[in-house]
Formats: sequence, structure tokens, C-alpha cells
Amino acid sequence: MDTDGRKKKIIITIDGPAGAGKTTVSKLLAQRLGFRYIDTGALYRGIAYAASQANIASDDDKALEKLCGKIHLGFEEIAMGLRLVLNQTDITDKIRSPELSMKASAISARPVVRDCLLILQRFLGKQTHAVFEGRDMGTVVFPEADIKFYLDANLSVRATRRFEELSCKSGDVPDPKTVETEMAIRDKNDSSRQIAPLKPAKDAIQIDSTNLNVQQVVQAMFELVQQMCPKGNQEPKIG
Ligand code: DC
Repeated sequence: MDTDGRKKKIIITIDGPAGAGKTTVSKLLAQRLGFRYIDTGALYRGIAYAASQANIASDDDKALEKLCGKIHLGFEEIAMGLRLVLNQTDITDKIRSPELSMKASAISARPVVRDCLLILQRFLGKQTHAVFEGRDMGTVVFPEADIKFYLDANLSVRATRRFEELSCKSGDVPDPKTVETEMAIRDKNDSSRQIAPLKPAKDAIQIDSTNLNVQQVVQAMFELVQQMCPKGNQEPKIG
């Protein structure tokens, strides 16, 4: 039970670098468990998007703090899936460009931005059983999570996956080498920043997806969840 008397929600965290397959795997695992899926990278992208619209530089803490205080950012579940909504506008299809990836990585190193999203993420964690995908879910946001995964793969495999994903979408697609270079820069930014750097939690189960397909990763996670979730705490039923 929570301190306020409500039944504790099951939280599964999946952290790891870009292109490791977190999004696909997290969505499928959540679907299989009947849990909600939360993409926390999308929240950082949402703030990066709002900052670009307002011409706010990634290191302008004062302006970022003000922005975080006034925007309304959240998810909405509709028939076509989970949508990211900023001030009542659906921005889901506007946040995946390479430029916004870099801006999201840059603003995610600013404490003002992390503090604001920490509150939002913990609030979402109280609502229902959920799979949270991100960089610091198991280390900082939910240190008491029921099960923590850290999903990784080697850089060239991750870059190839991201290149294929970008190629499926319309618009300008950078060449594979650029995708790999930008991914390496983002890995470095995300894992070397001072607050909440990307790293596996001490108690995370590490999975290397370099030679595994999506189904294999989801199956491995699903079996571990079934083994590890305390029997009396399964609601809705897992399996
Ligand atoms: O998962 P993603 O590629 O959509 O994330 C975009 C950026 O957001 C990533 O480079 C680092 C940041 N991020 C973070 O710092 N912490 C999280 N929990 C999720 C994302």
C-alpha cells in the first residue's frame, strides 16, 4: 500500500541508449501485461519542441524553467496509440527529427528540466501499472521499481536500426554514417552528464539485443516479469 492507502502500482523500468529497441520492446511488453506504456524520452522531446518553438537556447536555464512552469505536457491514449500532447496540440509526429533528438539530449542535461519531468513521471507512476522507458527510470525516477531492465546493443547495430526507422518515414533522411555519428554524440552526452546520467541501475537486469530480435527480447522480459512479480501483487493479471 502507498502511504495514502492506495494499492501500490507495479512499475517496470526499461533504460538504455538510443536505438537499443526500448520503444518497440516496451510497447509490446506493456501490451502483453495489460500495463500502460510511458515513453519518457518523448517528454524530453516535447520540452525540446516547445523550447525550439519559443527560440529558447538549450542552456538558457531561466527561460527553460519559465517554459516548464507554463506548458501543459502529457499523453493521451487514442485508437491509433499513445499521443504526446502539448498545450492541447498533438505533437507526436513532430518530435522525431534528428535536430530535436539533439536538442532533447541537450536540454535533458539541465537540472530545471529534469526536476520538472521528475514530478510528472512520478505522478504518472502512481496512476496505474506501467512500463516506463527512458535513461534514468531505474536509477533516479523509480529506484524502488518492481523490475528494472537495461537494454543495450552495439553502436553500429543501433545506428542501423535507427537509420531504417528514419528511412521508413518521409522527409530528409540523413546518411547512415551521420546517424551513427549523431548517436555516438548523444550516447556520450546522455551518459556523461552530471545529473541522472545514462547507466544501468545496480539491480537492473541487463539484456544485450545486438543478436536478438524484438520478439526474443520481449519474451525474455515477459518470462522474467512472471517469475519476479510477487504473486499477490499482480493486478491486472500478468499472463
Ligand atoms: O529515448 P529518446 O531518444 O526519445 O530520448 C531523447 C533524449 O531525452 C535522450 O537523448 C536523453 C533524454 N532522456 C533523458 O535524459 N532521460 C530519460 N528518461 C529519457 C530521455
